[in-house]
Amino acid sequence: MPFKGKSFLTVKGLKTQDLEPIFKSALQVDLKKPMGDLRGVASLVFTESSTRTCSSFEFASHWLGLSVVKLNTSASSLNKGETLSDTLLNLDAMEPLVHVVRHGGGERLSEIAPLLKSPVISGGEGSEEHPTQALLDAFTIYKEFGSIEGLRIIIVGDVFHSRVARSNIILLQQMGAQVAYASPQNIDTHGIERFEKIEDALRWADVCMVLRIQHERHSKNTTIGISEYTKQYQINFERIQLLEKNSILLHPGPVNREVEITSEALGDGRVRVLDQVKNGVCVRIALMAEILGVKLQ
Ligand code: NCD
Repeated sequence: MPFKGKSFLTVKGLKTQDLEPIFKSALQVDLKKPMGDLRGVASLVFTESSTRTCSSFEFASHWLGLSVVKLNTSASSLNKGETLSDTLLNLDAMEPLVHVVRHGGGERLSEIAPLLKSPVISGGEGSEEHPTQALLDAFTIYKEFGSIEGLRIIIVGDVFHSRVARSNIILLQQMGAQVAYASPQNIDTHGIERFEKIEDALRWADVCMVLRIQHERHSKNTTIGISEYTKQYQINFERIQLLEKNSILLHPGPVNREVEITSEALGDGRVRVLDQVKNGVCVRIALMAEILGVKLQ
């Protein structure tokens, strides 16, 4: 069991056999029937905006029987110059069973977590990694195809600034998928193939993962012009038809309708966006249970 008592900050090094127990547990979860045996607190600190990740950790905590204490970061001492590490050290002194943290970068969770008594789960760190998003994406693909091995996965959009893309590129390759991208920017560092034309990428892919343009992480030099972007990369009704019948389309949310994808395309039967959201709760339940050492069955 590679997760028990440990922090979960990166997908680096994770293999299919490490994740199979998590996926098997996640498949068993009935969200309408909470297990509710755990007693204790999950401490949530989100210094960046979140809808899905934060709520799904709250849902997962409640399902397991944990109480949730969520720091109101905009009214917290983070605004008085206290660092993230001091904030977490103080919350850790109140003895939660687990911390869930999202932050915009600067300090590193890998350096803070060893200072704390309770494990830390990353809810997204700068443009570095979003490991539980990659887990739920891999789970969504696994549920659909039964295995990730050999699948062709295209990541479309602002890959360069996306922590979701970064974690997915690492994890899906480790699980045997062929990952490529179609994007206005080059991301040489990952050593994966780039498709020049979105049309070719869509014809090739078993799974198409679409990203939001991460404006908040752009510098003046990397701004993407929306009209040029939509012309070249937007998933619209005509383009989504290029996907094979059994292919699927993912998006981590939040969706900017009519930018990276049109409402018409979102209505296509191959779109799994809301399945991802539900799977996110199930996977986070399974992961938290492993970390906290409780059996779900
Ligand atoms: C993503 C994030 O915050 O990194 N969303 C998410 O957690 N589901 C992607 C984004 O903000 O575009």
